[in-house]
Amino acid sequence: MELTSIARPALLETMEQDMLIGGRRVAAASGKRFETRNPATGELLAMVAQGDAEDVDRAVKAARAALEGPWRRMKPAERQRIMLRLADLVEAHYDELAMLDTLDLGAPLSRTVLGKTRAAALLRYYAGQATLIAGDTLNNSAPGDVLSHTLKEPVGVVAAINPWNGPVGMAVWKTGPVLASGCTLVMKPAEQTPLSALRFAELCLEAGVPEGVINVVTGLGDTGAALSAHPGVDKIAFTGSTGVGEKIIKAAAPTMKRVTVELGGKSPNIVFADADLDKAVPAAAMAVFANSGQICSAGTRLFVQSSIREEFMERLAAFTRTIRVGDPLDPQTQIGPVVSAPQMDKILGYIEGARGEGAQALVGGSRLAGPGYDDGFFVAPTIFTDVQDGMTIAQEEIFGPVLSAFSFDTAEEVLERANATPFGLGSGVWTRDLSTAHRMARGIRAGSVWVNCYQMLDPGVPFGGFGVSGFGRESGPHHIEEYLETKAVWINLD
Ligand code: NAI
Ligand code: MG
Repeated sequence: MELTSIARPALLETMEQDMLIGGRRVAAASGKRFETRNPATGELLAMVAQGDAEDVDRAVKAARAALEGPWRRMKPAERQRIMLRLADLVEAHYDELAMLDTLDLGAPLSRTVLGKTRAAALLRYYAGQATLIAGDTLNNSAPGDVLSHTLKEPVGVVAAINPWNGPVGMAVWKTGPVLASGCTLVMKPAEQTPLSALRFAELCLEAGVPEGVINVVTGLGDTGAALSAHPGVDKIAFTGSTGVGEKIIKAAAPTMKRVTVELGGKSPNIVFADADLDKAVPAAAMAVFANSGQICSAGTRLFVQSSIREEFMERLAAFTRTIRVGDPLDPQTQIGPVVSAPQMDKILGYIEGARGEGAQALVGGSRLAGPGYDDGFFVAPTIFTDVQDGMTIAQEEIFGPVLSAFSFDTAEEVLERANATPFGLGSGVWTRDLSTAHRMARGIRAGSVWVNCYQMLDPGVPFGGFGVSGFGRESGPHHIEEYLETKAVWINLD
């Protein structure tokens, strides 16, 4: 479909957007609402129900009731059929979901529509897993004739607390293992981008997911806090900042909830002199500038081998100057605004700080001004050179279109420097040498190593962090284990 013919989503005909609890759209018990706006224009998109502890409690109870209801007795093949129907529905409605994210987040439509393939593939992958769940029969050496086997049971009510940087994709990713395992879900989308999760949850109902299995409670950080502390929640799946991840782990402790956290990053992208520069140059730029830098695994620390540094940086700067930043609805746009004024101010603060510490902006380095920019939060793609490893921009997650470039001489040296942050989420290596590629892949402390590519994701391949980038892996054959309890059954046959 032509991007220009994608209609304004019907959901936006209603200014007051309610939560979705127990199969029904409901206002917050308090009646409170918060605004969500388009960060490209400032347009008010909706007044969204602001859930508090009371609404969280209602949603957790609905999820618990659903868990004990017909959902529990549903056969794996039935859950699978529903999930496959959901995949078809998500595919059929993806333009609408993509447009909601473009308006709510500011990500270019040319980018958000591409999420369709992954969203459908995720749901179909997890649909397959629904019928693959299996315990074991285990040998034991107990005296007598005793049979032992394990049962796999859904862990229970899951809380998903989501960030704003890829709203519908995240909602799908959090939902897949819940449906496959027979758990139920209370999802709290980010306050900046709550709309597509609500539409997705409606599609879940349309696909035949029973009422109460997927609930969406909209609200701010304190809504997430109430959810993560609720004693009726059995597991939390969180994606977001490292600071909030720490709070969630603490909130989970008193009732020993299962927790997985996918957090921030400061990922290294390493270009060796023998790399294919025609591929490495644009990939190094988009590794950090895509989605305005608002990607947890963005390649924000670029290490270029000294002998090609000059050529590489010239080509990178030239490529970066061609990136089209602007109206997210324009099919030509590659990069839109950042999500909010506070996010923009945070990024501009890092840029000022970098200058103060002596780094040089080779490209960009400011907010974009002028017609088409003034009503939104646009930051120019920015490349800093002369960055020292210890500088703030080299150590902290900025979550904006800001690249720090370094040069290096040897593989040993770059490995040590690449690993010298507390994070460990993504990483890139560009080389045509097999030994270098394998040795770097072994040596880098990160959950993903991309060799001669960047930011590849697939439902069948695990993704997650080392260190303060979190723990737990999403996707891949073992993800579903996070949603299952293992029960040992002993049967004395004597
Ligand atoms: P955040 O981590 O505060 O928000 C993520 C989610 O957690 C939202 O749904 C939010 O409402 C919820 N939340 C906030 N406080 C909570 C609490 N105490 N308990 C439970 N849930 C809570 O991220 P935020 O403020 O939107 O962005 C701040 C920074 O976090 C960004 O500048 C970026 O550096 C980082 N970030 C990293 C992401 C990643 O995927 N690595 C994603 C989003 C943000
Ligand atoms: Mg918004």
